[in-house]
Amino acid sequence: MDLTENQNYLLIIFASLIAILFVKLLLPSKSNKNKRLPPSIKSSIPIIGGLVKFMKGPIPMIREQYAKLGSVFTVNMINRKITFFVGPEVSGHFFKAPESDMSQQEVYQFNVPTFGPGVVFDVDYSIRQEQFRFFTEALRVTKLKSYVDQMVSEAEEYFSKWGESGTVDLKYELEHLIILTASRCLLGREVREKLFDDVSALFHDLDNGMQPVSVLFPYLPIPAHRKRDRARARLAEIFASIIQSRKASGQPPEQDMLQSFIDSRYKDGRPTTEAEVTGLLIAALFAGQHTSSITSTWTGAYMLRHKNFFTAAVEEQKDILKRHGEKIDHDILAEMDVLYRCIKEALRMHPPLIMLLRQSHSDFTVTTKEGKVYDIPKGHIVATSPAFANRLPHIYKDPDRPSKSPHSLNRSYDPDRYAPGREEDKAAGQFSYISFGGGRHGCLGEPFAYLQIKAIWSHLLRNFEFELISPFPENNWNAMVVGIKGEVMVRYRRRKLTVD
Ligand code: HEM
Repeated sequence: MDLTENQNYLLIIFASLIAILFVKLLLPSKSNKNKRLPPSIKSSIPIIGGLVKFMKGPIPMIREQYAKLGSVFTVNMINRKITFFVGPEVSGHFFKAPESDMSQQEVYQFNVPTFGPGVVFDVDYSIRQEQFRFFTEALRVTKLKSYVDQMVSEAEEYFSKWGESGTVDLKYELEHLIILTASRCLLGREVREKLFDDVSALFHDLDNGMQPVSVLFPYLPIPAHRKRDRARARLAEIFASIIQSRKASGQPPEQDMLQSFIDSRYKDGRPTTEAEVTGLLIAALFAGQHTSSITSTWTGAYMLRHKNFFTAAVEEQKDILKRHGEKIDHDILAEMDVLYRCIKEALRMHPPLIMLLRQSHSDFTVTTKEGKVYDIPKGHIVATSPAFANRLPHIYKDPDRPSKSPHSLNRSYDPDRYAPGREEDKAAGQFSYISFGGGRHGCLGEPFAYLQIKAIWSHLLRNFEFELISPFPENNWNAMVVGIKGEVMVRYRRRKLTVD
């Protein structure tokens, strides 16, 4: 019998699981007799019970175990133990520990074939730290100021193609606009103006190469991985040629992330290679593109569902128009507090990265808010979940009303919870709001993401009226970066915001 490609790789996975199980049963486990270990999931299926629960969906599993076991618990996954830390009281060490105690490299290794060799999780921490410094430099305020001009002109050009009125899928539209903007600000003028279609198709293949199975088996010989590898190689050629012609041109440097990475230098004075620049750009696109487009769509969906917040955001635009006229720049976007809170609240409820992971390399102790003390042995994978932690009722008032009634929804989507005087995200201390992670590895692109989403929504608020005509959207839990299921259809009509 001929096996299909799918059957083939299911067989490989199955064989690997059996092998791991075999090793697990034969090897004696180390004694943890004197330790105060966190509770672990009890299951009727020994050894793989935790894995089975986890595979059914991490968020329902965390919800169930949090209720039963509290804020620190362990899931046994065949030969690995994953210990969860839920809430700011117990996640401090996760976010703040030095790399020697808590590292990312092992758990995010599956990104290596996508980002490519010599960058991020393929290099030692000392080099990775330097590469993160390159990100920090590429995203510092002086650079952000020039990106904002590009974000604004991309939004103006994109929406100028809409008619007087019509119906669009907001999710599709914002996804496309954000690809264009990311191309302009990150990948550079050459890609945006001449190679946009080719490069977008290659990124699409890279994206499709990141399947759930890729997390455990990133090199499995499946068609999606082969396409990914071909796309990665072609992108390296394209960027090598762009970098060479930039270096040879003698023109003034471009204002984009590509140029910033070309100009970056390691501590010993070594310049970045063409391959490293390509890898860092891919990493930036993977970190920032889907996350930002999903967030901009949720922001729109919630503001249209809760008209009071849409109206408040429009009033804010009027006020800013009065003071600054039509002009939009970095500092003017920074004044849009109402819009900022609307985005932040959509992101609290729908963080696209639902689970953050580390490998722990040393024993540590954690104390829960109830005063329970647990010893966490080294070797555990440790995890925390923005999707769950952002909805804890002892931190956020009415964080999570599932009801479809407008009144209840109003109480859960509540941007005012961040307003002066309430500041619910700060009341329980650091790590209460973790959509952008925090601590040692907090998102370096947070300001860029807010500027981009604000640039889009300030343009839409100033130029259009909207009505949400499809049912309120739901999470698409099947994606690696959790997005939105189906279309988000809106009816629009042009109307220019005027100030009296
Ligand atoms: C709404 C948009 C975004 C969200 C929700 C988001 C979320 C996150 C989260 C949760 C982390 C921490 C991961 C961890 O702790 O394991 C992170 C890290 C990171 N993000 Fe973002 N991100 C967004 C946009 C961006 C953008 C636009 C860029 C760059 C252009 C970016 C670049 C990075 C980088 C470089 C890191 C790694 C920082 C480190 O490990 O030190 N992100 N992001």
